[in-house]
Amino acid sequence: MTLVLGIETSCDETGVALYDAARGLLAHELYSQAATHADYGGVVPELASRDHVRKLLPLVNRVLHSGARRLDQLEGVAYTAGPGLAGALLVGAAAGRALAWALGIPGIGVHHMEAHLQAARLDEAELREPFLCLLVSGGHTQLVDVRRHGDYRILGESRDDAVGEAFDKTAKLLGLGYPGGPALARLAARGDASRFTFPRPMLHRPGLDFSFSGLKTHALTALRACAGSDQDRADLACAFEIAVVETLLEKTRRALRLTGHDTLVVAGGVGANRRLREVLASQLAARVIYPRVEFCTDNGAMIAYAGCLRLAAGQRDGLQIAARPRWPLSELGPV
Ligand code: KG4
Ligand code: ZN
Repeated sequence: MTLVLGIETSCDETGVALYDAARGLLAHELYSQAATHADYGGVVPELASRDHVRKLLPLVNRVLHSGARRLDQLEGVAYTAGPGLAGALLVGAAAGRALAWALGIPGIGVHHMEAHLQAARLDEAELREPFLCLLVSGGHTQLVDVRRHGDYRILGESRDDAVGEAFDKTAKLLGLGYPGGPALARLAARGDASRFTFPRPMLHRPGLDFSFSGLKTHALTALRACAGSDQDRADLACAFEIAVVETLLEKTRRALRLTGHDTLVVAGGVGANRRLREVLASQLAARVIYPRVEFCTDNGAMIAYAGCLRLAAGQRDGLQIAARPRWPLSELGPV
C-alpha cells in the first residue's frame, strides 16, 4: 500500500490530494485564485506565488483531516515540477520536497502535462496504453501518442496560441471575465453560430499541427463590424466555439487514423468544455474518455496519482529542488 500526497501549484490553482495505491483517491482540496487575478484580466505571476505560499499548508492540513490520515503515514510527496510559472512552481516544489525530506520519504517531481494525461485513470482504472491523448489546456494543445507510461510522442501541437489561451483571449475581447473559457462557453450556449463564419485553421493542410491565434483576430474583426449587442456577442462566442471544436475534431480524427488507436483520452482544462465533450464522443469512431470535469482543470488529485505511478516505477528526486517552467512532455522517457 502506498500513500502519496500530491501538490499542484503550477499556475493559479493550489491543489492538494491524497492518493492511496490500494484504495484510490482519499481526499482532494482545491483553492482557486481566480478572484485574485480577475481584476487584472489574467494571471499575475507574483500574486500567484504569494497566494500559493499562503494557502498550501492549510490545504495540506485539510486533506489529511478529510482523508483521515496523519503526516507520518505518508510514503511519498509528489509535486508539480513543471511546466508552469516559475515562482508558482517553486512554492509547491520547495514545500513538497522539504516535507518529504523532513519525513524521510521520497519526493517526486511530476510533469504537469503527464498528470493531466493520466488523470483519466482516476476514474477509469482499466484504461491501458496505447491510446491517443488530446491535451487541451491554457498552455498546451497537443495530440499525443501514448505508447507506454512515460513514452509520449507528440504528433501535432499548436504553432501559436494554445486552445485555452484562444478561449481566454477571445473571452476578453467579448468583455467576459477571467478565466474566460468557462464564461465564453456559457455565453455560447445561447448563441446562434450561423450569423458568423469562422475559419477552421490548418484543416486544408496535411499534418496534425494547430493554429488558434487567427480565430481571436477573426473574432475581433467581426465584433468591430457589428453593434456588439449581447446577442451579437453570444452569436460570436458560439461561432468561435464551434470553429475550435470542429478543428480539434478533424485533427483528432486524423490522428486516430494515423495511429490506429481505438481509444481517445481528452485531458486538460478545455476538456471541461461541454460542446467539445459531446462532439468528440458522438463523432469519432473511438472510445472517448474524459476525466471528470473537476479533474480536467488543474488539481492536486492528478499530481498525487501521477506521482504514485512514478513512485511505483522507482522515481526518486534528489534534494536539489528542480522546477522547470519549460519542460517538453517528449523529454520524459519510458518508465
Ligand atoms: O489545465 P488548465 O486548468 O490549466 C493549464 O494547465 O493551463 O486549463 C486552463 C484552461 C483555461 O484557458 C480555461 O479558460 C480553459 O482551460 N477552460 C475552458 C473551460 N474550462 C476551462 N475552456 C473552454 N470551456 C470550458 N468549459
Ligand atoms: Zn493544467
